[in-house]
Amino acid sequence: MTDPLVAATGLHKAFGRTVALRGASLTIEPGERVAITGPSGSGKSTLLQCIAGVIAPEAGTVTFDGTRVDALSADDRTRLRRREIGLVLQFGRLVPELTALENVALPLLLERRDRHASATVARGWLAHLGVEECAESLASDLSGGEGQRVAIARALITAPKLVLADEPTGALDTVGAERTMQVLVEATGDIGAALVVVTHDNRVAAFADREVVLRDGRTDAAKVVA
Ligand SMILES: Nc1ncnc2c1ncn2[C@@H]1O[C@H](COP(=O)(O)OP(=O)(O)O)[C@@H](O)[C@H]1O
Ligand SMILES: [Mg+2]
Repeated sequence: MTDPLVAATGLHKAFGRTVALRGASLTIEPGERVAITGPSGSGKSTLLQCIAGVIAPEAGTVTFDGTRVDALSADDRTRLRRREIGLVLQFGRLVPELTALENVALPLLLERRDRHASATVARGWLAHLGVEECAESLASDLSGGEGQRVAIARALITAPKLVLADEPTGALDTVGAERTMQVLVEATGDIGAALVVVTHDNRVAAFADREVVLRDGRTDAAKVVA
């Protein structure tokens, strides 16, 4: 048995009087594909943000690749996330004033990598995801499906060990959702990263090896879907 990539145990998180997580736990193996499902408000996004180190839980532990993420300072969590974790969100969350190419290159520029080399790598990722022709378009001018491919390229450009996607197809129609999931799963597999997808959609969950259901901030039994 190898060590898990992520081990989150007994997570508690409240926002004021709203309790979002009440003892949720999740283990992710290297290269594994996991779907997190459950009703709206059940704590899915909060769980993902705890794993990403965007927010710190009030109780419980998150270990990423041997590092206790919950014990790090906010700055160290940000550094770890930039290097090791790719995030894909519902509406892409691209920077609207930047081109697709600039958006994809951004994680490398934040790591102080050379501007020209970063642009070359970014162009390669856009081509890999089938949206090279969008390189010079402003992010605000992209269609929903194009924007999500650009967001996937941006998430993968640092070759993270873990990709976290929160409702990545939430703004797309059925065909667009299916294609985006195919691209996300393939590209994540190409770099050997684990993939965790939060979704309402059974067809999206079907791309995962395993489904974890959240209810009222608690993780129920995991069921195998594929
Ligand atoms: N930043 C926040 N401030 C206040 N309440 C929040 C915040 N984030 C989440 N919540 C609340 O925590 C609960 C869980 O939210 P969330 O994790 O977004 O659920 P899901 O992603 O499953 O819909 C909800 O009741 C939500 O309103
Ligand atoms: Mg959510």
